[in-house]
Amino acid sequence: AVTRKINIAIDGYSACGKSTLAKDLAKVLSYTFIDSGAMYRAVTLFAMRNGWIKENGVIDQKALIASLNTVQIGFKPSQEKGKSDTHLNGENVEEEIRKPHIAQYVSQISAIPEVRKRLVALQQDFGKEKGVVMDGRDIGTVVFPNAELKLFVTADVEERARRRFEELKSKGVESTLEEVKKNLAHRDHLDTTRATDPLKKADDARLVDNTCMTKDEQLTLVLGWVRSLISN
Ligand code: DC
Repeated sequence: AVTRKINIAIDGYSACGKSTLAKDLAKVLSYTFIDSGAMYRAVTLFAMRNGWIKENGVIDQKALIASLNTVQIGFKPSQEKGKSDTHLNGENVEEEIRKPHIAQYVSQISAIPEVRKRLVALQQDFGKEKGVVMDGRDIGTVVFPNAELKLFVTADVEERARRRFEELKSKGVESTLEEVKKNLAHRDHLDTTRATDPLKKADDARLVDNTCMTKDEQLTLVLGWVRSLISN
């Protein structure tokens, strides 16, 4: 059969399993996985380290925007096989950007239009060659409006909180289920109501509600769609 490379855009709420799906798809298809949320997290870390996120949560947007062109973000293969690490200006920040103090501010940072503009341009660059699976909030609507396959992933907030809590626990990050749920609900709210590129389902995205699916069931479902698109 003839196969062609496509771009796969995956959007959805925080901790809905979209990055697991994206990673699994990339592995099976030998595609490149790009975690766009990691890029917003890296910019948040950058702002924090420069002291532009104040104790009271106020952000010095002007200073951040003026320095955006010095921010380099890349992905390099991880020591753990099959994974990749996020690098900020040459430094491996993968572990740091997953921590709650970053999650707390990332929605505010990602609501800044200039930040989005810069990161969307970088993301579109990654997609030029096709064969990319990218997950985020605006991939099907803004980054790759012409992606051959678009998915919008959802799951109940209770289930998402439980999964994220288990994930943090397994990494030794201290938190409570209540805290995790509150942060998710807060981010869902900010992500769907911000003025610039809010999270929403693209008209032509396929809906995947995985509340009651295992990750293998979800993968099998989507691979069926991919295979019918790439082989003809
Ligand atoms: O997927 P994640 O939880 O790592 O994303 C972190 C934050 O970044 C999320 O709260 C919203 C923002 N984000 C975004 O605005 N646009 C994207 N394409 C990806 C993430």
